Amino acid sequence: MSLLRTKSIEQSIADTDEPEYQLKKSLSAVDLTVFGVGVVIGAGIFTLTGRAAHNVAGPSIVLSFVIAAICCALAAMCYAEFASTVPVSGSAYTFSYASLGEIFAWIIGWDLILEMFLGASVVAQGWSAYFSSFLGKFGIVLPPAFSYGPNRVIDVPAIVLVLVLGFLVTLGIKESLRVNLALVGLKLFIVLFVIFAGIGFISPANYTPFVPDAVPTAGSSGFSWTQPLLQLLTGAVPSTFGVGGVLAGAALVFFAYIGFDVVATTAEETKNPQRDLPIGIIASLAICTVLYCAVALVVTGMVPYDQLDPSAALANAFAYHGQAWMATLISAGAVAGLTTVVLTLMIGATRLIFAMCRDALLPMGLAKVHPKYRTPWLITVVVTVVVALVAGLTPIGVLEEMVNIGTLSAFVLVSIGVVVLRRKRPDLKRSFKVPLSPWLPIASALICGYLMLNLSVETWVRFVGWLAIGFIIYFAYSRSHSRLETGVGIRPDMLKAMEEGHAPQNPDDLR
Ligand code: ALA
Repeated sequence: MSLLRTKSIEQSIADTDEPEYQLKKSLSAVDLTVFGVGVVIGAGIFTLTGRAAHNVAGPSIVLSFVIAAICCALAAMCYAEFASTVPVSGSAYTFSYASLGEIFAWIIGWDLILEMFLGASVVAQGWSAYFSSFLGKFGIVLPPAFSYGPNRVIDVPAIVLVLVLGFLVTLGIKESLRVNLALVGLKLFIVLFVIFAGIGFISPANYTPFVPDAVPTAGSSGFSWTQPLLQLLTGAVPSTFGVGGVLAGAALVFFAYIGFDVVATTAEETKNPQRDLPIGIIASLAICTVLYCAVALVVTGMVPYDQLDPSAALANAFAYHGQAWMATLISAGAVAGLTTVVLTLMIGATRLIFAMCRDALLPMGLAKVHPKYRTPWLITVVVTVVVALVAGLTPIGVLEEMVNIGTLSAFVLVSIGVVVLRRKRPDLKRSFKVPLSPWLPIASALICGYLMLNLSVETWVRFVGWLAIGFIIYFAYSRSHSRLETGVGIRPDMLKAMEEGHAPQNPDDLR
């Protein structure tokens, strides 16, 4: 069954030592945590929280954040175990290549491309919105056709942002992370500012009702493209709020947590990946969970949920209380904060595609590393151009759920992969182990799958279309070009071992 052929862990690790594909190892656990927080805190908390509370969950959006956090914590442990076992670029894609087989690896890679490309584009659009609003506070108005807003033709600020960041990524990851560090610091300050300055404006009455009663979706007669798939499958009347709203809210604000998994894409640039990756993944998720729940609690306490601004809730909660300068400060912080998210998602996308090219599932020529900067510069150019075009030209506000479904589906497969790899290769050294395996990884897969069902029908239709394109590319190109098929570039000792049907004894011997 060539579809289920796996790439041995030893081969994955050995590939990273080929000089023409080698990346510079420079990152520590602290760098990774900063990287994680940099990519996680972004449009999700700055814009989506308000929209989700306003449209689907009310103050119970806090519960949605807790549910999404539980889902992510389970998945994060699975990621951490994998990353500590297979410290190779490409994250979930590489993990599943080692455990579930090539076709699953391809599907995950394809899902993660969706996550990172669309994620970067969506956040670049959000950045442009805050940028325009920030300039507006100083009386500078950008031409409506060329900036964020209902009359937009092409979003020039979003495109310029992506091009500048693409240039930084080409120069080198350490340099990019230095810029990241300054911006992450500013972003954390703003989030803490919202929490502590906002406490004084909380009015307990805004928490009642905490879970607003379910409201049928206006004009619905049994079907709505925007209702959660689960409602359609169970025949429930399309509705928002209520318990269903809490769950739909969790599926939506899941976006806010996306990114901790991207930490695993930098494995090959980490000095001590077996130790540092689990720390980076779990620490960044823990920090963000605490901050998110606090922000959600404060903001829904400051403003009645039906009066929250669906686009810039954090800033406008302060404007609601007449604190104009605080609102301006928060807008400025959002501009800085969203920059790091776009940057990190772009880095993640380049590293993922790098791994897929190196395995020849995508054209290998793309994966050559720049002789001076040691970065995959050709891929970076492709990623930059595509993200810029999507951010600049696609409609606003339709792609977030696509990012979520792509990521959740990858989480499901990673969780299953942990169990499979433990059975297949119990011998491998795992410096981090998911507790209570296989129950915890199974719970992780089920919860992620359940959240997927709470995404809208239209998102599912688009997702199925995306998968169909992926399968066409796989069967038309990747399957026959795969290094596991052709043997091109596989080291002779590895090839011999594979032909003999066993992997070499000790991966460290191959390094
Ligand atoms: N988690 C990231 C954000 O909130 C994608 O923007």
